[in-house]
Order: sequence, then structure tokens, then C-alpha cells
Amino acid sequence: MADDLFNSFMNGPDENGRFGDFGGRFVSETLMPLILSLEEEYEKAKTDESFWAEMHDLWTHYVGRPSPLYYAERLTEHLGGAKIYLKRDELNHTGAHKINNVLGQIILARRMGKTRIIAETGAGQHGVATATVCAKFGLKCIVYMGAHDVERQAPNVFRMRLLGAEVIPVTSGRGTLKDAMNDALRDWVTNVRDTFYCIGTVAGPHPYPAMVRDFQSIIGKEVREQMHEAEGRLPDTLIAAIGGGSNAMGLFFPFLDDKSVNIIGVEAGGKGVNMKMEHCASLTGGRPGVLHGNRTYLLQDDDGQILEGYSISAGLDYPGIGPEHAWLHEIGRAQYVSITDKEALEAFQLSCQLEGIIPALEPSHALAHVMKIAGDLPSDHLLVMNMCGRGDKDIFSVAKHLGFDMSGPEGRVFE
Ligand SMILES: Cc1ncc(COP(=O)(O)O)c(C=O)c1O
Repeated sequence: MADDLFNSFMNGPDENGRFGDFGGRFVSETLMPLILSLEEEYEKAKTDESFWAEMHDLWTHYVGRPSPLYYAERLTEHLGGAKIYLKRDELNHTGAHKINNVLGQIILARRMGKTRIIAETGAGQHGVATATVCAKFGLKCIVYMGAHDVERQAPNVFRMRLLGAEVIPVTSGRGTLKDAMNDALRDWVTNVRDTFYCIGTVAGPHPYPAMVRDFQSIIGKEVREQMHEAEGRLPDTLIAAIGGGSNAMGLFFPFLDDKSVNIIGVEAGGKGVNMKMEHCASLTGGRPGVLHGNRTYLLQDDDGQILEGYSISAGLDYPGIGPEHAWLHEIGRAQYVSITDKEALEAFQLSCQLEGIIPALEPSHALAHVMKIAGDLPSDHLLVMNMCGRGDKDIFSVAKHLGFDMSGPEGRVFE
């Protein structure tokens, strides 16, 4: 990797919102003024101490940050290699990393005088976080969610409704995250005046990928300090699951310039990356194209039509990936791998049994990769995995996949 590229990591993206050949701003003329005023507001906020003071106050007293960096002793012993630390972002208010970013965007929306907030959601965690913060500030909230996800993430749909949000099921396509984002963008174009689109990952047109990354970078900043306190040095390897890539970018970004730190993103391999369309591994199985306002790696057919993609995990079920990841992949700064549904389900159970932590299906993918590599690493190798969400939302669908009937008094395993 060229050293000059390496030195420029912390400066990206360029003034056009490009990370190398990726990113940018592919939007209709109607949206352009909005995007520009958001960019202007964000540029102001970045250097405004009162903005960051408000963020830190809410992160501390509302979200419960800093989240712990936890040494997973039994998992480490079981795998018999690297020393495994879990960054416990599943302990945040609302149960995932999503709220780190939502707070930033809602503060910006309030500064811009917007009163109607729209969001897309896959696993429902971003929708829940948005509904939560809107309730706190008395803002109207509309969440677009694929009809298939409405079914498999039912607890989160009820949560959003309790919090006062309107949840709109989207039936186009396969009824998952991509379709929800299409409809949210359609809403935005028609309601430009009072509406703020709160995007849940490092995707969308510039400035969203960089802005969401900056809000999520609190994860990696805390890990740096916590690892220094625990071990007196930098970690050796960072691992995180990738849907659009926001929890991963949040962990990775503050370490991009530390050449000794090995960085691994884990995509959803579904039923196996060789199985046509039965996965959601955009970097491992896709190629560059344009979707949702930016250029990145996408699952697409020979004509450039976006393929639906598939994963057991609603949060990873997105046929694209944030443009900064596409860039890090192309220049070789980060490595991207994929994990199947089956491997993620095994990791889900291991975390419950050995650490007493019920993980979401999304970070279960990251954990499955930890399980693959930890045993071959030396015992002084420090590995940090982002436990970016808790599994409450997933217990019904995991029960179904494991053949467990939850309706009986003691449950029953069908086999
Ligand atoms: C718990 C959890 N982890 C990960 C993701 C994937 O999103 P991202 O890649 O933006 O972190 C989601 C998305 O819904 C999620 O709910």
C-alpha cells in the first residue's frame, strides 16, 4: 500500500465527498439544496464546541457511554489463542450502536428547524433509536421498514410504535432494507421543506457517509483509551460486522493511521457466497455501481440491476456497503470476509453459553470470524470485537432457526 495513501486516511473524503473512486453525491436536483444545507450545518457543527458538549452530555447521561471494553475470559480460554475483548455497545440505551449517530443527526435537524424526521430501518435498531430520540425531543417520526423485516423483527416494530413512531411496511422488492431506503428517499424528495432524513449507516449521498462515521467514531476513540488503560498499548486486530458499515467504521476510523492495527470487516455470507444471490457480501461478491446516492460495491446482475441479497440477519441484509469501506478494500487497508448464517448461529449460542451475553445476529457474524482466527493467534495478541447490538430482537427468529417451539411451557426442540 502506498504510504501517501496511508497518510491521507484521516482526511477523507475529498471536497466532492469521494473516497478514492467511491462515494460522491448522485441525487436528484430537488434534493441537492437540502444536501448542501445539511453539509453546511454539519461543517459548522464540527468545530462548534456547544454541539459536541450537547452530544457528550447525551452520550453520557442518555445513552450510558462510555460502553465497557470487556475481557471475554472464558471465550479466550475456549478458543485458546488471542486475548479477546468485546466492546460492549449492546449496552447502550436502545440496545445497539445506532443511537450514537441518531443523536448527532437529530441535534442537526433541530438546528435546521426541521420538525418531521424520516428513517429507514432493517433490524429495527436504527428505527428504534430514531423513534426514541424523536420522542425525547417531541418530533414527528416516520420509519420505513421492509415488510419481511417487519415480520422477523416484530419486537422492534412494537417498540417503535410504543415510542410514537409511524412504521410504514414496504412491500416492494424482497421487503428488506434496500426497499425501505428507496421509499425513505422518495418521501424526502416529496417533503423537502420540513423533513430531515436520518440515515442509519455510512451510506447515502455525501455528507452522510462521513458524518455518520464521525458520530460513530466515539466507539473507536473509547477503545483506544480503554485498551491503553487495560494493556498499555494499541490492539492488534479489530473486527466488526458490516451491513452498511457504520459500527465497523466507528471502530476502525480512529485506528486507520496505526499501521500495526489489523482491520477486518465481516459481511453476511448467508447460505454461502457461491450461492447465487443467497448472501449479502457486497465486497466479496459484488462490483462497483451507484445506489442510494453514492458509488460503491453492490450486488448486481450483468445489466447493473441491483440484486436483492439475503441474510438471516435483517441488519446485514443490504446489497451495498458504505463507500469508505469500498475504498479501504481497494487500497488494502482493511480485509473483508464473509460468514454464513449457520456459522453466525453457532457463534450466537457460544456467546450465550460462555459469556452470558445474548448477542444480536449482526455481531454474531463478527464473533464467528473471531472463532475462526483466534485459536491460531498468539496469547499476547489483543483482539477487539464490536458487540454492536443485543439479541432481544432476535430470539424469536433464532428459536425458529434452531427448531425451538416457544409456545409450550418448557419449549420443545423439533428435530
Ligand atoms: C445490532 C446491529 N448491528 C449491525 C447492524 C448493521 O449496520 P451497520 O453496518 O451500519 O453497523 C445493524 C443494523 O440494523 C444492527 O441493528
